[in-house]
Amino acid sequence: MTPGSVTWLPDAPGTVTDLEVFGSVSPIRKVTEQVAFDDGWDASRRDKVRELFDGMAAEWSSRFGDEREASIIDALDRGGVRGDKVVELGAGSGLGTNEIAARAADLVALDLSMKMLREQSGGTPLVQGDASTLPLPDAAVDTLVLVNMFLFPSEVDRVLTGAGRLLWINTNGHETPIYLSPEDVVAAMPGSWTAIAGRAGTGIWAAVDRV
Ligand SMILES: C[S@@+](CC[C@H](N)C(=O)[O-])C[C@H]1O[C@@H](n2cnc3c(N)ncnc32)[C@H](O)[C@@H]1O
Repeated sequence: MTPGSVTWLPDAPGTVTDLEVFGSVSPIRKVTEQVAFDDGWDASRRDKVRELFDGMAAEWSSRFGDEREASIIDALDRGGVRGDKVVELGAGSGLGTNEIAARAADLVALDLSMKMLREQSGGTPLVQGDASTLPLPDAAVDTLVLVNMFLFPSEVDRVLTGAGRLLWINTNGHETPIYLSPEDVVAAMPGSWTAIAGRAGTGIWAAVDRV
């Protein structure tokens, strides 16, 4: 595949495209772009984001629904995880964690917010940490899964193996507050990457690999 290219698969049956305007006007969208393209993350921002999600943890899971989960399942089915060592970043209260665990031999779920992690159910090992400085050696992970989570390009590049994969999922498509298009994800990564992308339910996903 050509470096930087994104190959779109056909939409899954039942894909919802008329999304209510929500995430595209959220202030967190700007933060998402700054983190991915301008190294826009520091201790002050980290603390504010942690406080924000600590405050939403108790009611976060009430937002889950089949249309949101459809893109996670489709990303895992038509995209897929590579290898055994899989880490979910920004796992939160577990919208995707149990589906990922069903397809990963060795999954760890990481989040900045301990209150979000406490809402998880299931047996996946949980770690509180900051995805901008992962407590992982270089080239230690086969697949990173990010569901509605900020992209830290250099850290993703550092911890993935050479054949490693980034599975990027936005469960409310372009109206997800923390959203980057598959084209933007590929563009943000250092070096040469390519992706296959798809849509299902209300969501959008990209399986992003080095060329
Ligand atoms: C929009 S929520 C998504 C949670 C879950 N993946 C979902 O889709 O329901 C974003 C999550 O990313 C976490 N997060 C934000 N910045 C992070 C960072 N730098 N490192 C690790 N987790 C982070 C937040 O605490 C929050 O749980």
